This record gives sequence, C-alpha cells and structure tokens, in this order.
Amino acid sequence: MSVLDSRVAMVTGAASGIGRATTNRFVAEGATVIGIDRDEEGLNAVPGITAFTADVRDHDALQRCVAQTIDQHGKIDILVNNAGMTYTSRHLDSTLEEWHHTLAVNLDAYYVMAKLVTPHMIERQYGRIVNVASTQAIASEPLGHYVASKGGAAAWTRALAVDLAEHGILVNGVAPGAVRTAMSIIDGEDECETDVFKEWYVARRKIPLARAGAPEEIANVILFLSGDQCTYICGHLLVADGGLTITF
Ligand SMILES: NC(=O)c1ccc[n+]([C@@H]2O[C@H](COP(=O)([O-])OP(=O)(O)OC[C@H]3O[C@@H](n4cnc5c(N)ncnc54)[C@H](O)[C@@H]3O)[C@@H](O)[C@H]2O)c1
Repeated sequence: MSVLDSRVAMVTGAASGIGRATTNRFVAEGATVIGIDRDEEGLNAVPGITAFTADVRDHDALQRCVAQTIDQHGKIDILVNNAGMTYTSRHLDSTLEEWHHTLAVNLDAYYVMAKLVTPHMIERQYGRIVNVASTQAIASEPLGHYVASKGGAAAWTRALAVDLAEHGILVNGVAPGAVRTAMSIIDGEDECETDVFKEWYVARRKIPLARAGAPEEIANVILFLSGDQCTYICGHLLVADGGLTITF
C-alpha cells in the first residue's frame, strides 16, 4: 500500500520545479493528481496527472477545476497551494502593479483555492492543505512584494489551521530556502551558481548543508504534511532550507 493510495490531490504550479516534483511524488505514491498551471506545455509533460491549464488569478477557472474534480472523483483530500512568482525590483523601482500581481498569485489564489476545496473536505471531515511559503516569511531580502506575500501565506496558514482543525482538516506550510528551479534563475543567471552564492552560502556555510536544495527534497516535506503520517501537526511552518535561517 502506498502512502497516498485512493487520495485525490490538487496541486497548483504543477508544471515546474517544486510543484512538478510534488506531483511526480504524489503520483508515485498512488494519488490521483489534478495539476493546475498556466504553462500548458509544461503541464502536459507531467506524466500521470489530470492537467488543468489556468492562470490562478482566474478564479472562475479555479472554480471550474474544483467542480470538475468533484464530478470525476467525488472528493478532494489534499490541496497543495504552490504556484508562485516574483519580481526582482527593489522598493524604489517597484510598482503597485507588481505588488498586486505578486499578491494575487502568491496569496489570493491560495485563499481562493482553500475556499473552493474546504466545503468538500468538511463534508468528509478529512483534509490536508499545504501552503508553500518561503524562508522569506522569516528573514528577508529586499523583495518587498514577494516577502509580503510569503509572510501573509505563513500567517494565514496558522489562522486557517485554527479555523479548520475541528473538521479534521490539517493546514500546514512549508518554507523552502534556496531551491534549484526556474524561479532561481534571475535574468538568465542561476542564483545558486553565482560567485556570491558559492562564497557566502557554500564556502562560508551560511547554509550549513552548503548547497541549494532540490525540488524533490521539498516534495518529500510536502508529501509528509499531505499524508496520514501527519496527524498531530497543525498550523506549522516547516522550514526546509539546509539550515539557512538558523545561522548568523
Ligand atoms: N525556488 C526557490 O528557491 C523557492 C524558495 C522558496 C519558496 N519557493 C516557492 O515555491 C513555489 C514553487 O516555485 P518553484 O521554485 O518551483 O518555481 P517554478 O517557477 O519552477 O514553478 C512555479 C510554477 O508556478 C506557475 N505559475 C506562476 N504564476 C502562475 C499563475 N499566475 N497561474 C498559474 N500558474 C502559475 C509557473 O508556471 C510554474 O510552473 C512558489 O510558491 C515559490 O514562491 C521557491
């Protein structure tokens, strides 16, 4: 018997990086996975899932996706809110449009997905919701819009966990550190390959494990929080950062 046998899971941002690794892992563990992403080509390349192409800012599309999932599978056991993006602008160069875009993807869509799935979870008195935040919710680089969205996701995760616990729904968050994905490539350069990263985070061990993480390592954490081994964790932000945030 696999860890997620007979479970129905929805994963946003499933076409790439952490979402894709999570989706692969869930499928390998026996789950039926509905992957949502705006990247149609990337999504269609993920094996073994039901692909639903949508921008997570399109709330009507998210509603259709949830309705379709209930029609086809009769339930939703797991929601992984993961689709995310960032701008690289600092405060003085940033715009209100960037701020709104970032919050719409990284926070509003998390809320909307949770609003849509929780009635179905409450019906069955069972659910697991995992919100992918970031270590930027704990310690910050000058990326105000992104940090605000991730701090919001982390705080909201606690509130939702308190709110839904009585229904058998466990809500938790994950705070990845530096992970090698499309998001770590800024202006064509992989952040995890820069001289600064190699000197400060690796050679001087600002990250005690002295390397960036792989998406599969975050997927392992998400799997744990999504499965039946997770029975007494509520509103926790599980930091998976190789030790980045425990060092001076
Ligand atoms: N990579 C890191 O170092 C890191 C660190 C901390 C947190 N995170 C978080 O992990 C999550 C996954 O990011 P990743 O690193 O795998 O990046 P990624 O770019 O590889 O994947 C993000 C996915 O989200 C999708 N997406 C973005 N905007 C969307 C929208 N409007 N509608 C639908 N889909 C959309 C993208 O198409 C992509 O498939 C994000 O929430 C990110 O903030 C990443």
